Amino acid sequence: MEALSILKIILIVLGAIIVWLIFIRILRKFVHFPAPSFIGRFLDTNHRRRLQPPDRIIQASGIKKGMKALEIGCGSGAFTNFIARAIGNEGKVYALDIQPKMLEQIKNKLDKVENKDIKNIELVLASAYELPFSDNFLDLVYMVSVFQEIPDKNKTLMEIKRVLKPGGILSISEFFIDPDYPLRSTTIKQGKQAGFNKEIALGNFWNYTIKFSKP
Ligand SMILES: C[S@@+](CC[C@H](N)C(=O)[O-])C[C@H]1O[C@@H](n2cnc3c(N)ncnc32)[C@H](O)[C@@H]1O
Repeated sequence: MEALSILKIILIVLGAIIVWLIFIRILRKFVHFPAPSFIGRFLDTNHRRRLQPPDRIIQASGIKKGMKALEIGCGSGAFTNFIARAIGNEGKVYALDIQPKMLEQIKNKLDKVENKDIKNIELVLASAYELPFSDNFLDLVYMVSVFQEIPDKNKTLMEIKRVLKPGGILSISEFFIDPDYPLRSTTIKQGKQAGFNKEIALGNFWNYTIKFSKP
């Protein structure tokens, strides 16, 4: 094939991707629905983790051994195992999602031989609007590519504030490829408006984590 034809194909594919990303972003502004469960397999890949390394999320969120942590919108669990291992068996990760089919995927993953060492994950089927935990119960709540997908953000943040201990951490990570990706200034504004203190913002334009704390 001539070099010119190859260039044409590359340009057409790139153009199609850009048009798709613009279309899906505009659509998501008007139509709210949780990410469909079939995308679980595309979310949980090593390619993605190369771009969005779990270690960086762990470090930026201030995740430590023994913490009681809640992951809202765990999906197929692309990061859950890594966080659970960082927290260790003295702590616990509640992996919560609104879709049973997402939790099924993470359960299948935990059933695999290579994950048998993980004993500190509890799967929770619930909505971010009604977290099934008592007040001041958790050390950390984290969300990766989830927060903007939830229509009532303030209600979600208030519920997170309720279940976090005073001084507890809220960590929000966002990735540019997500159709709901917000600018980091938007995420910071939303957290502050709900009464959280901004501790630190790490990462870059494409891929960042904001760590807040409950006063
Ligand atoms: C784009 S996926 C991200 C999954 C995972 N955090 C990751 O990064 O691979 C968003 C997830 O949030 C969940 N979700 C959306 N709205 C929710 C809500 N109101 N309460 C709990 N989970 C929700 C969806 O079911 C979906 O699994």
